[in-house]
Amino acid sequence: MSKLAGKVAVVTGASKGIGAGIAKALAREGAAVVVNYASSRAGADAVVAGILAAGGRAVAVQADVTHAAQAQALVEAAVTQFGRLDVLVNNSGVYEFAAIDDVTEAHYRRLFDVNVLGVLLASQAAAKHLGEGGSIINISSAITHVHTPTAAVYAGTKGAVNAISGVLANELAPRRIRVNVVSPGFVVTEGTHTAGVVGSDMEAGLVAQTPLGRAGQPDDIAGVVAFLASEDARWLTGETITASGGIR
Ligand SMILES: NC(=O)c1ccc[n+]([C@@H]2O[C@H](COP(=O)([O-])OP(=O)(O)OC[C@H]3O[C@@H](n4cnc5c(N)ncnc54)[C@H](OP(=O)(O)O)[C@@H]3O)[C@@H](O)[C@H]2O)c1
Repeated sequence: MSKLAGKVAVVTGASKGIGAGIAKALAREGAAVVVNYASSRAGADAVVAGILAAGGRAVAVQADVTHAAQAQALVEAAVTQFGRLDVLVNNSGVYEFAAIDDVTEAHYRRLFDVNVLGVLLASQAAAKHLGEGGSIINISSAITHVHTPTAAVYAGTKGAVNAISGVLANELAPRRIRVNVVSPGFVVTEGTHTAGVVGSDMEAGLVAQTPLGRAGQPDDIAGVVAFLASEDARWLTGETITASGGIR
């Protein structure tokens, strides 16, 4: 039986990469999915088309999660289009790498705005609509414990996501809303291509440290998210699952 039949999910940053993989996996398990994008409309439309072609339900919704009104409109689109909200996946994220000498205020603000403020604003909007059995899943990163050089700001944003997730797990538990984290290791995505990580010494180093001996793919992460969203994970809150091929 489909694990998410009857559920409605919002996946932020689902126009490409890990988010697109998560949106498709949730839809395969029976969820209706709001496929959020910030700028890549064509990517989001392609994800929706794939879900519809497979017999699922999905809609693309533009929203920049760093703005409260847009985060709220995104969540409300789920309720308007599909009647309810059960799952929020905070996947939107940006990464850039800079040695400490090169860290700038703009670099700090860009990463913290999307990766931390965006998580807070989308969670705030979703919490108004999630009921008993609802679930928030935040995409962090194994970088919080792998400690890759030049990732001070990015790792800082994901450390903040971990701490926020623990707090919200406790804060929303009385309402029977679960909050969990998935921390991927290195994953081949549009973003890691654009950032120059794919094909770089950084990638080679990360793969060399990965016990299972390869780079991750979006589907390696998506199945873990689908599990956390499902009834099989009903007794899990405040947990972090590191989905990294063993690098830690
Ligand atoms: N890839 C990895 O190796 C890796 C490892 C660990 C953790 N992660 C985390 O996994 C998540 C996805 O990474 P990825 O590699 O799949 O990234 P990606 O390919 O660059 O995709 C990023 C997604 O985030 C969206 N986004 C960016 N800014 C946004 C904003 N202000 N509002 C709404 N959406 C926004 C983008 O939307 P548009 O394209 O429409 O602008 C895009 O859909 C991130 O949180 C990242 O930190 C990635």
